[in-house]
Amino acid sequence: MTATADIGVFGLGTMGSALALNLAENGFTVAVSNREADWIDPFLTEAGPLADRLIGVAALADFVAALSTPRSVLFMIPSGAPMDAMITQIAPLLDPGDTIIDGGNADFHDTRRRAKALDAQGLHFVGMGVSGGEEGARHGPSMMVGGTDHSWQQLQPMLEAIAATFEGAPCVAHLGPDGAGHFVKTVHNGIEYADMQMIAEVYGLMRDGGGQEAPAIGAVFQNWRDGPLKSYLMDVSATVLSSRDATTGQPMVDVILDQAGQKGTGRWTLIEALRMGQSASTIEAAVGARGWSSEKDMRAAAESLLPAGTAGGEMPPDADLEQALLAGRILSHAQGFRILHAASEEFGWGLDMGRISEIWRAGCIIRSALLDDFASAFRAALPRDHLILAPTMRARLADAIPALRRVVAAGVSMGVALPALSAGLAWYDTMRRARGTANLIQAQRDFFGHHGFERLDEPGRHHGTWNGLI
Ligand code: 6PG
Repeated sequence: MTATADIGVFGLGTMGSALALNLAENGFTVAVSNREADWIDPFLTEAGPLADRLIGVAALADFVAALSTPRSVLFMIPSGAPMDAMITQIAPLLDPGDTIIDGGNADFHDTRRRAKALDAQGLHFVGMGVSGGEEGARHGPSMMVGGTDHSWQQLQPMLEAIAATFEGAPCVAHLGPDGAGHFVKTVHNGIEYADMQMIAEVYGLMRDGGGQEAPAIGAVFQNWRDGPLKSYLMDVSATVLSSRDATTGQPMVDVILDQAGQKGTGRWTLIEALRMGQSASTIEAAVGARGWSSEKDMRAAAESLLPAGTAGGEMPPDADLEQALLAGRILSHAQGFRILHAASEEFGWGLDMGRISEIWRAGCIIRSALLDDFASAFRAALPRDHLILAPTMRARLADAIPALRRVVAAGVSMGVALPALSAGLAWYDTMRRARGTANLIQAQRDFFGHHGFERLDEPGRHHGTWNGLI
């Protein structure tokens, strides 16, 4: 086996195959392998002329021997235990200076642990978030890289060649060491959950409050595709709402069971946010709503038992729905960026929020017109590092928040749940008010637990006498 391949891709599932073909198409020689060796030949056959730049190898030792040094080995396999098992097998076959890349949706804590363990052996470990699904992986994903400078130098030419581009700039960046890339991808997914949920909420209001059929809602979404909501997820939503089931002729969404799946990244975003004392209320609402969706039997039983207690209410105009979604999208991204900010501080990653916004402008699932505005906002001096304080975002929110209020109020009056949109609004109203209500919380805590509080007029820790009752 001659060591000629620029990179090895192990794992020929949907994403691994697509990335290997993308690399080959961009002129790189790629060694490919798979746990089930009988996947390799069919993959090479389907690759057509690109097979000239693909080297299929079944045995792990031969796969490693096919790679030029320093080696780059990209694993596209299920995260968790399978990744640990492959590291254990491949590490003894590698040399100091080689890089193992995990391109799956891994828990960044695992990535940090693996990077540390491999560092002791002189090996480099890269946690790389890859977004954009199969189509993105094949023709241009957005990639979030965490790892050493050494690995980045090795990978940069390949990753920049295969990445999606926004006005010519590749949507890939070295964001920081060890778990930085996987963490950013995790938060990307949290924002993805929130965006999908908010779009679904507006669909729900139009369906259950406005009595509209899926194709009519799809037509409204279609109109928003070129406005301020321009985004991949709006395109997807407009398209699926106007699709029909080939068997029944009904709108496709009307034959789909209303129970959402999830693989865990949204939940991880939340867990990390809460651990760092951050708010991620829109993401939390989205993850929670997926959980509630699975309680189908309970909901079916409750429908006849729990009265809606509605107060009437009128459907807001479409323009309000559009502006409400825009406000919700700004707020959920602002929450996501706060989580990134907190993690960057905690782990010393030095995350560049402007750069992250830039590489999310194309290729990834949450790509939208707003991300270019976010990138500009982060590049300008951002008051308190807070997206909602950027002058451009303040202007957009000033226009959109009144519509969000009307939409949330309509949902409340009509008994249609808008958990993510209303959570975003509550966060906005909390953050824009200097005097909150935690003074009462502190008083309660001191009353029943002698926890103490700070006073507005005197430094130090104080206790109340509570009218002599304690
Ligand atoms: C992406 C997506 C992708 C994720 C799917 C499914 O950026 O391409 O985030 O990585 O796996 O969206 O996620 P859930 O199954 O958790 O909805």
